[in-house]
Amino acid sequence: MSRAFLDASVSDIVQQLTTDEKIQLLAGPNWWNTNAIDRLGVPAVRMSDGPNGVRGSSHFVPTPAQCLPCATSMASTFDTDMLFQVGALLGEEAKIKSSVILLAPTCNIQRNPLGGRAFESYSEDPHLSGIMAAAYVDGLQSQGVASTIKHFVGNDQEHERTAAESVMSDRALREIYLYPFMLAQKKARPWAFMTSYGRIKGVHCAENPMLLQDILRKEWGFNGIVMSDWFGTYSVDHAINAGLDLEMPGPPRWRTPLLIGHLLSCQKIKESTLDERATHMLNFVQRQARRNPEVVFGDGKERSRDSPEARAFCRRLAAEGMVVLKNEGELLPLKEGKVKTIALIGPNMKDRIISGGGSAALKATYIVTPYAGLVENAPKGVEFKYEVGCYSFKYTPTLEAFLETPSGEPGWLCSFYNHDGNGNPTGESVQDYVLQDTRIKLNDFLPTGLTKTWTIKLRGSLTMDKTAEYQMGLTVAGRAKLFVNGEMIIDNWTKQRPGDFFYGQGTVEEMATISLTAGKPVDVMVEYTNTKPPSGPESDRSQPALMRGVRLGGCEKVDPEEALAAAEKLAAESDAVIVVAGLSPDWESEGFDRPTLDMPGRQNELIARIGRVNPNTVVCLQAGSAVAMPWVNEVNGIIQAWYSGNEVGNALADVVYGAINPSGRLPLTLPVRVQDIPAYPNFKSEDGQIHYREDLFVGYKGYQSRDVKPLFPFGHGLSYTTFSFSDLIVSPASIVKGPDFEVDVTVTIANTGSMTGSEVVQVYVSLPDIGLATPKLQLRGFTKVRNIALGESKTVTVKLDKYAVSWWDAVGQQWKAAPGTYGVHVGRSSAAMELEGEFVLEEAFAWVGL
Ligand code: BGC
Repeated sequence: MSRAFLDASVSDIVQQLTTDEKIQLLAGPNWWNTNAIDRLGVPAVRMSDGPNGVRGSSHFVPTPAQCLPCATSMASTFDTDMLFQVGALLGEEAKIKSSVILLAPTCNIQRNPLGGRAFESYSEDPHLSGIMAAAYVDGLQSQGVASTIKHFVGNDQEHERTAAESVMSDRALREIYLYPFMLAQKKARPWAFMTSYGRIKGVHCAENPMLLQDILRKEWGFNGIVMSDWFGTYSVDHAINAGLDLEMPGPPRWRTPLLIGHLLSCQKIKESTLDERATHMLNFVQRQARRNPEVVFGDGKERSRDSPEARAFCRRLAAEGMVVLKNEGELLPLKEGKVKTIALIGPNMKDRIISGGGSAALKATYIVTPYAGLVENAPKGVEFKYEVGCYSFKYTPTLEAFLETPSGEPGWLCSFYNHDGNGNPTGESVQDYVLQDTRIKLNDFLPTGLTKTWTIKLRGSLTMDKTAEYQMGLTVAGRAKLFVNGEMIIDNWTKQRPGDFFYGQGTVEEMATISLTAGKPVDVMVEYTNTKPPSGPESDRSQPALMRGVRLGGCEKVDPEEALAAAEKLAAESDAVIVVAGLSPDWESEGFDRPTLDMPGRQNELIARIGRVNPNTVVCLQAGSAVAMPWVNEVNGIIQAWYSGNEVGNALADVVYGAINPSGRLPLTLPVRVQDIPAYPNFKSEDGQIHYREDLFVGYKGYQSRDVKPLFPFGHGLSYTTFSFSDLIVSPASIVKGPDFEVDVTVTIANTGSMTGSEVVQVYVSLPDIGLATPKLQLRGFTKVRNIALGESKTVTVKLDKYAVSWWDAVGQQWKAAPGTYGVHVGRSSAAMELEGEFVLEEAFAWVGL
């Protein structure tokens, strides 16, 4: 394609576009591209998920990528420089996948740690979320790749996500939920926004003029594009008139020439509005093409890369995101000479858990499991023994590591077949693919030349390395059956039971048991079809047009009592124990929320029993958000490891063995019980509404207002050294006039311990009495003070501005600040203040905008 478009006048192009072409620009042709208008030289641009890696444009045959830690882990670094580097790295990853738009970052609020996508959002705190998001956006856009900040706004849980209205006060909307987006817009100006699925003030966000026009464009001066979440456009004229530029994915459900043409003719949509949306799209595509001509006019290929620099960065990022919650008796770090034997235990120890599930999940170039990382990086002279202890999976583990194709390649062979008139597979396969995953997602990919209904057959030979009974599991969106050596052992075809998988559109996992002999292959074949079951409720439920997929899993059948007892025995015999436990992408994902804070399976019992026989136990928790820890007093070490990406094992080893001095701090409060969470019990959508009754008192603000002690407070995290805080100076002490002022909060941090380390300075502000219920402390500034050597002091300054003193005046629809004395509380967590100061605001002021 010629590059003349780079210098073309957008208004000239708009004049030349036919109505149908304008309509084409407002939707995608497929899941991941915008439409090109070849006649006028307008190229297509490609987008990709986001946020902890760049997945690329196929779930089915993914091009592997670096998998970075999840957002809660990133936020735990409290380090904006690192987040900038994250963005820059992802920008490069996007471009090698021929993509110039990343669908990230997610900056919804963790009002409820049970939210299915809590792992994908930074924090319960709007300031931390917004500052981290801005740094990420800046880094990404420094590479010319557009950030699509999401989900604007109020997608804070998954239950009934496309229907639910997030019911909240104007203050909560402004001061908590819009706040991260507002900060990101002020500091980094993302080039695209993605609307959220649900409703605000009764109106779906994708057709909400208050959000898209009044706030985003008019108040905040946004001039990029607004796109819908996937299948999150629910109307033609409402969405177009409200300001939604792009319906995704394509082909569109709504933006067809027929529908829009009709609404133009009856003047529900004006030609000028259509022109405005098309102009936004063209400006955006032109800017992205100018920034990345080699990508936009390039070969469109997707590539992987795996450099030592990227590996080292991801390892450091993951390690810096880990939060040491507890370290009794200085059990950690397990340095050379401290222990001779270590028991490695837990369901996640050998598993390949690198991220949460849903659209954030991706195929990694490689994975260092906790087991591999802990063994390979161990100090000299340590001996390891392993026991699983218990299982905790929701779906049996995938089996690609044990499969070979009929021609001997790793993985299995996926063949597509057309159907005859009776819906039966016929003839030769249309296409064959070798796949290295037993989770097959077909929502964004199908080979060309298929009949409307079709079949795939997945074939491989399965060889296990232990003679045992195995439980096999089959889950499907569509219909599937499993054959082993020609015999059908699972029928998820004729009768189906609805389940959570595939964004809530799949079945439960159907199980069967088989005996396998070590080293002796068996033939495995999964047959899948997109035809609907003949009748019954599932017939309507399976929506093959939206989500199609099948998942095969299997694992050794273990006796739960024996597995627990073996782990307990091993723990008792060892000098120290490392348990890797927690959740997985099957438990934390899109389309559903977690039902409980408890970890699945018998993990709590396992840890309690191990801790009782050997308190020198370090529990490493893989979870995107909070889990209950009823065994907290039984073990001496706890590390919140989140989902750490593909360097998880190395990063964990760096923290456990002390190759780095940990400096992660909690970006959310960890509760003792679910009832203590301020949003409790208002987690779910009821009659189409989620009531945000905790209002401004989200997270630590709610615990503080009700004087509820959390398990571990927001901002908490231990180091292997100690620090002292001193010499707080708040300057100026008095502000005569707002809103354009700055207050410097200067503080000195000294390393008083035994090892170089980094500390996070957290600055909380308390407002004078403004006559409205307001949280006692609000995080308004922070900085990471890096590498303070033993005996060294560093003096740092955190700046506060009008955002630190303003609240939303719902009556006047503006930000306001009151005269009075403002407390400045400098702490190491929201519950551990070290220094107190104040400044005075002499005069009230009000403002709108950014
Ligand atoms: C998610 C978005 C994502 C999109 C594309 C949706 O299900 O909510 O965050 O970007 O899918 O994968």
